Amino acid sequence: MAFNDREQAKIPLLTPYKMGKFELSHRVVLAPLTRCRSFGNVPQPHAILYYTQRTTKGGFLIAEATGVSDTAQGYRATPGIWTKEQVEAWKPIVDAVHAKGGIFFCQIWHVGRASNTGYQPNGQAPISSTEKGIMNSVEANGIDVPRFTPPRKLTTQEIPLVVDDFRVAARNAIEAGFDGVEIHGAHGYLIEQFLKDGVNDRTDEYGGSLENRCRFALEVVDAIVKEIGADKVGIRLSPFIEFNASADSNPNALGLYMAESLNKYKILYCHMVGPMMKEVGVKVESPYTLVPMRKAFKGTFISAGGYDMEDGNNAVAKKETDLVAYGRSFLANPDLPKRFQLSAPLNNYNWETYYTPDPVLGYTDYPFLETTV
Ligand SMILES: Cc1cc2nc3c(=O)[nH]c(=O)nc-3n(C[C@H](O)[C@H](O)[C@H](O)COP(=O)(O)O)c2cc1C
Repeated sequence: MAFNDREQAKIPLLTPYKMGKFELSHRVVLAPLTRCRSFGNVPQPHAILYYTQRTTKGGFLIAEATGVSDTAQGYRATPGIWTKEQVEAWKPIVDAVHAKGGIFFCQIWHVGRASNTGYQPNGQAPISSTEKGIMNSVEANGIDVPRFTPPRKLTTQEIPLVVDDFRVAARNAIEAGFDGVEIHGAHGYLIEQFLKDGVNDRTDEYGGSLENRCRFALEVVDAIVKEIGADKVGIRLSPFIEFNASADSNPNALGLYMAESLNKYKILYCHMVGPMMKEVGVKVESPYTLVPMRKAFKGTFISAGGYDMEDGNNAVAKKETDLVAYGRSFLANPDLPKRFQLSAPLNNYNWETYYTPDPVLGYTDYPFLETTV
């Protein structure tokens, strides 16, 4: 897809942007979207069509959350990147995205306590920063309800082992051909279970003060930066979102502390899900904005969470963000940047098929503009 100068001047989201060494042709990013179609935790060939449908030359895509180890899973059929088989299975998918000129990062993930014994090796308890379980189910976002079982609190000595799982997963992602990794530090999963004081009740150096609660996240960043280079590392954070029973008493301070601390590692980008969504998919008014974090962070800033085309254009035009990640609308509109270019109507997304196992339905069957009647 090529945009002429006149179109680019009109549509801030469609202006080019240089993210580190990556020359992006526009600013409409594919947000990470769990699809629950990676049977046996192995990415399937049908993901080639899914991701290439959403690839544009110079477009930036973030793959669905991908487990870093055998304790990282909490949902049915989510992909992993800790075995040789998984790495090999990712390769043709990544190659196909590259063949169309896309830039492709892998979102690496550990669910922590958002799991149950059924997903864990030998039926063991899920691991977390805490022994407190998640009381509420996640039915609200449509996922096949995992029945959470109480987690086991990681000992201080075990934490470096989990940091190392992230490091190895990042190395594997590069081996699979990905251009980089996005560390999943959002939505109440393991990293956020350390970050937020509503969850983290530790008394060691990983709990208590803001500095201590952020230690695990920053150790993961540090290990991955040393392994693959800062120019290939991004992180996703959602200080304002309380998904998976993860609240913080001062989300603004948490977001700001992380944005400032990340500068030390010179990572490529910080991707934040804004306060417009308190739960995934539920838009709310909020007194907070991402602007202080955007100002504090020195690398590329990506915003997400409830943005439509106008919100995205405004945010880019006002320099409140560099890039905007779109989730549900990109899922339902594989040609989303083109639709923005033409101000074309969008297909509606169907949440009932978000996490279903069909390799086509609600996945690769959303119509392109040309075929929309
Ligand atoms: C079906 C579905 C799957 C999602 N999977 C992930 C995921 O794997 N990782 C993640 O960080 N966020 C995930 N999210 C959140 C999205 O990336 C995005 O932040 C959210 O949908 C808000 O953006 P939107 O309003 O553009 O949809 C998911 C959301 C949906 C609807």
